[in-house]
Amino acid sequence: MDKKTFYITTPIYYPSGDPHIGHCYTTVACDSIARYKRMQGYDVMFLTGTDEHGQKIEEKAKDKGVTPKQYVDEIVDIFKKLWSYMNISYDRYIRTTDDYHIESVQKIFKELYDRGYIYKGEYKGKYCTPCESFWTETQLDENGCCPECHRPVKEAAEEAYFFKMAPFADRIEKLLTETDYLRPKTRAVELVNNFIKPGLEDLCVSRTSFTWGVPVPFDGKHVVYVWIDALSNYITALGYKNEAFDEYSKYWPADVHMVAKDIMRFHAIIWPAMLMALEEPLPKHLAVHGWITFLNKKGEEQKMSKSLGNVVDPFMLGERYGVDAIRYHILREMALGADSAFSNEIMINRINSDLANGFGNLVSRTVAMADKYFGGTLPTEREEGEFDSSLIECVSAVRGRVDLCIDETRLKNALEEIFVAVDRANKYIDETEPWKLGKDESKKARLATVLYNLLESIRVISTLLSAFMPTAMPKVWEQIGAGEKDVTYDNAGKFGVLPADVTVHKGEILFPRIDLEKEIAELNAIIEKNMAAAKAKLGADEAAGAFAPAELAPEIAIDDFAKADLRVALVKSCEKVKKSKKLLCLQLDDGFGGRQVVSGIAQWYEPEDLVGKKIIIVANLKPATLCGVESQGMILAADTPDGGAAVVFPDQSLPCGSKIR
Ligand code: MSP
Repeated sequence: MDKKTFYITTPIYYPSGDPHIGHCYTTVACDSIARYKRMQGYDVMFLTGTDEHGQKIEEKAKDKGVTPKQYVDEIVDIFKKLWSYMNISYDRYIRTTDDYHIESVQKIFKELYDRGYIYKGEYKGKYCTPCESFWTETQLDENGCCPECHRPVKEAAEEAYFFKMAPFADRIEKLLTETDYLRPKTRAVELVNNFIKPGLEDLCVSRTSFTWGVPVPFDGKHVVYVWIDALSNYITALGYKNEAFDEYSKYWPADVHMVAKDIMRFHAIIWPAMLMALEEPLPKHLAVHGWITFLNKKGEEQKMSKSLGNVVDPFMLGERYGVDAIRYHILREMALGADSAFSNEIMINRINSDLANGFGNLVSRTVAMADKYFGGTLPTEREEGEFDSSLIECVSAVRGRVDLCIDETRLKNALEEIFVAVDRANKYIDETEPWKLGKDESKKARLATVLYNLLESIRVISTLLSAFMPTAMPKVWEQIGAGEKDVTYDNAGKFGVLPADVTVHKGEILFPRIDLEKEIAELNAIIEKNMAAAKAKLGADEAAGAFAPAELAPEIAIDDFAKADLRVALVKSCEKVKKSKKLLCLQLDDGFGGRQVVSGIAQWYEPEDLVGKKIIIVANLKPATLCGVESQGMILAADTPDGGAAVVFPDQSLPCGSKIR
């Protein structure tokens, strides 16, 4: 009989910069599931790859003076090196620049057009010139500006093809609310309320403003815009509408697509709509996780970003603590659906407590005692005792619990379940006190039983852990004297598999304890150096003219300018606006009795950075309500090269209310 199949995918990554620990999360998670499913006997297809088209890539290549393909080739190489370093066992790597993918995307586009789901229209929207991106009204930031660089946007229009979404709205709503497609299901409400209930907008699926993309087959002026190109990868990689592979009917529909929250909408709404339009089966599950954020010294979570210099380099961490420890840490910290804050301290504490003290210690103590009391080979006489059955019961139940977590894509919980058994086994050592048994000749049979039970527990635990930590576990098997046939999935559900006279081999310490203080000092020094370098680079980019100022606004008459009443004001107090990550609410002395202004600068300023400072406000701006808080005017800030904003501070000796002309 044919084996059961299992198809799992990561998103395809943009090769627009070096990969970081955030990119590793989905890939390590999918790898662990793929390994577990292989262990269970499934015929697994694990797909990852790179999403290589688009305007940003075209521009970056131009800046570097290379072709887009040369540019992506170099970065794809780094991605592949990272995946091999992280022990990622993907079965297929798709590049959207692969010929077979391009051929399929063109056929898919044409088919959607022929079926009447794609039509030519005009793309109207808010256009950000520096970012060369269109945004919808709802995507703009609190100030009505570009959500990426926070600069003003303007109305613009361009000819484009659109994909009709409305015909699929009802089926998609049912998919999200009545099936277990989306995980966690709690996210369905936000999708339905934000996108489906207000009426699904047709999706713009072509562009004429750049050329680095798949040409629309029947209209060479257009290239296929990102999502049809990118999402199709999940089926083109199996040979859908191409001859490169012949595995579509074998593996499709996918069992799990795993993605982070920022691309959930595309996978929860647009991808099912595309498949419905093509009359193809829908994937079984979409697992959505949060982001790994960087916890800075003030204890605040920041998005990892190259320009902040806070990106965590997986190669550097792997060199210091071992790849398996890093894999374990990121999987253990992130609950499906939620963000998880990364800090060096949390990571080191986790590695020390779970791996060095918890599991590592269990292995080294057990092996050392077998070595010390029996020269490495256990005698075959046995004497059962108190605590045995509770240990065996706990360890024997783990596999079933882990199976469930894997099937529900809850990897943090899977590891927690395994560590219940680690803790139980460590407790068993405390309960049975083998060091005391070792001193009493008449207790040798009891001691052998205790050590055997411990070795068996380690065998089961390490078999299950091998899907998550594939490098370290074979070393454990070597130490506990387990052969290949002992560490199968089947045997992870049994107790009593190792031979009664098993021989252990003392080996290296699996997860050495990390000196927290020393490491934190070193890692913090690295991060600070990176942050300083990132800042200096921004300065240098600006000096080198890399900073692109926002486009000049059309000419106005002096009278137009005179309409704006700009005044000096003092920030008396300032606080973050609740429920907003971007807004600060400032109480000002404006020389006219005071006022309150709300400003979208919380990403770049702490309230205390502003209190006591004089700033400039537009004093006669019509009041507006932002996140439920009234703003009487706005404060002046300038664009920074990294897309941020810097408040304009006037001469601090100017009196409040002083008019700027
Ligand atoms: N190319 C698109 C995906 C197309 S899939 C058909 C894309 N690429 S990306 O490289 O920008 O991001 C890929 C995935 O990595 C996304 O799910 C993104 O959220 C995830 N992550 C990027 N930074 C991350 C963290 N810091 N933490 C967790 N995931 C992160 O989007």
